[in-house]
Amino acid sequence: MGKLHFGAAWYPEHWPQERWAEDICLMKEANFSVARLAEFAWSTMEPAEGEFRFDWLEQAIEMLAEAGIVTVLGTPTAAPPAWLVQKYPDTLAVDEYGRRVQFGNRCHYCVNSSEFHRATRRIVCAMAERFGKHPKVIGWQLDNEYNRVCYCSHCLAQFQVFLREQYGTLDELNARWSTAYWSQTYSDWAQIPIPIGGHNPGLMLAFRHFVTRSYRDFQKVQLDELRPHLPPSVWVTHNFMDWFGAFDHYEISRDLDLASWDWYIGTGHHDHLKTGAAHDLVRGYKRKNFWLMETQPGNVNWSKTNNVLNKLEARAMAWHAVAHGADALLYWQWRSALGGQEQYHGTLVDQSGSPRPFYEEAQLIGAEFARLSDLVAGSTIQSKAAILNCYDSRWSIEFQRHNSDFDYVAYLEHWYRPLAARNVDIDIISADELLDGYKLVIAPAMIVLDEGRVERFKAFLKRGGRLVLTLRTGMKDRHNALLPFRQPGALAELAGVEVEDYYSLENPIPVGGKLFQGSASLWAERLRLLGQRFTTVMARYGASNGWLDDQPAIVVNPVEGGFVYTVGTWLDSQSQQTLVNQILVNSLLKPFESPAPVEVRTRVRENGTALHFVINHSREHQVIALPWPAIDHIGGQKFAQGNLTLYPYAVALLTKQN
Ligand code: GLA
Ligand code: ZN
Repeated sequence: MGKLHFGAAWYPEHWPQERWAEDICLMKEANFSVARLAEFAWSTMEPAEGEFRFDWLEQAIEMLAEAGIVTVLGTPTAAPPAWLVQKYPDTLAVDEYGRRVQFGNRCHYCVNSSEFHRATRRIVCAMAERFGKHPKVIGWQLDNEYNRVCYCSHCLAQFQVFLREQYGTLDELNARWSTAYWSQTYSDWAQIPIPIGGHNPGLMLAFRHFVTRSYRDFQKVQLDELRPHLPPSVWVTHNFMDWFGAFDHYEISRDLDLASWDWYIGTGHHDHLKTGAAHDLVRGYKRKNFWLMETQPGNVNWSKTNNVLNKLEARAMAWHAVAHGADALLYWQWRSALGGQEQYHGTLVDQSGSPRPFYEEAQLIGAEFARLSDLVAGSTIQSKAAILNCYDSRWSIEFQRHNSDFDYVAYLEHWYRPLAARNVDIDIISADELLDGYKLVIAPAMIVLDEGRVERFKAFLKRGGRLVLTLRTGMKDRHNALLPFRQPGALAELAGVEVEDYYSLENPIPVGGKLFQGSASLWAERLRLLGQRFTTVMARYGASNGWLDDQPAIVVNPVEGGFVYTVGTWLDSQSQQTLVNQILVNSLLKPFESPAPVEVRTRVRENGTALHFVINHSREHQVIALPWPAIDHIGGQKFAQGNLTLYPYAVALLTKQN
């Protein structure tokens, strides 16, 4: 039986053992079910090469267990110790200017260093032997927030080997990258550099693939040591940073049992449409529920203004995470260490060892999680709408934005927001996934196109799907070269249009039709109808640069079974909402209605019972119209059909009553 877990990162190695019992007692009173340990404790676990000290960790795990708290162990590889880098200086990464990075922050390792792999194997193997079968260690987190890109000579050599594997011959590589351009033709693999700044787009994309491969290999080094020691019920994860862009998260997640991520607001307050997308993204890494491995207890220490979250804001955020598929929430971190770089970060217990005001809110969340665990655990999100995310497309656009304000993730969010604002449950998934089960699929800026994608779209449309294609679609191949066709390439027939030209816009221009009169920014594509019988123009550009005046901007094309929308520009948010509303109607999706700051999300239990999470993300009272009588499992109240008033930051978990 699964569980809805609640806890924090705890670093017992920062504190004398005499204090541990008191901390654990406070954790228990905060209704913790889990603690995360050891992720940066390399120098404590292996103070000198091959000398291990694990008794303290075992003691901490046992003490937690006595209080009913299970453990997630982190492998400590994000914090390589001083003795290691002193003895093997090549384990330190090199930045793009050729400088060795300094020891003493984190992730200072070269991900491809064989010495570092050796050291990693040793510590992970030792941890696995000691704790792999420990009944109270339920899961493992590898490393912490993979992020560094290394430019050392070793990485360069490996990159060249990787390219040889990928391309086979230099002729093939030269052709794919059009290297005759600017005399880039390579006659020896050793001539190929790691790109620094702008470079050949094919080379740049290949390097991202190499970084992905490097982390995947590094992770495999750890998995190979760990897995043989783990019973089947014990899982392995990594804590990702949502939209972090240096590698393909789908690739890296492939070898993990579950995905997890670290959620921070930084300055300001929670924007539930933004973080909803982040949760849904992480849920899509493995297409299943995830763990929120870290989140901020009140405030961070690294942002511009490290303001605290409002009272009860974190509780709304906690339930929002669960509503989007989190099966656990852990704060970072339990107690403020007296030294180290993060002295001012939010914690539950302060430097004196006393609970901070925030502790009380954590206690409340913990109590609610514990009480509702049986109801919520095991339930999943069953979205009928999906947004496709493609790292290759994102990178391709990031390398050559053509309009410096054109941001792939922002554009994806531009589609997510109006859908989420209408309380549509959304999966954000890899553009290479199967599309079974969806009614609506949106493919924002899917610039990289291949046959597999076209075939999946065709199958999806045949089943009656609604497909939304957008600007910057179907222009590039897998090597980041232009396809020798007009956009959207092999999708043109389905779309009923082709792109005659694309325009980077200096200023917003008018765009509109029957549905709305609005404005288009950043990018506009001039669509040409291919003469199919039922293709309909939904919006045209107004007067602007002459080339676009009165030309089609948005088109819908009925195809066998379904509909294909082509949206050739970046609409203002109001028009985008209107368009999305219309697409929802056509997709036969009828989401729950609520005022803007109120979010309604649904998880479905195995027996089919729908759990509706209703969250007021504002500091004002809000009213929603309940379409049926319901019971609120958080507040323990029954509500009649009709108006339901939600107090500031209120959270309800409703099931329908007959
Ligand atoms: C990251 C790290 C944590 C901690 C937090 C602070 O997410 O994973 O160890 O440093 O930031 O916000
Ligand atoms: Zn390196």
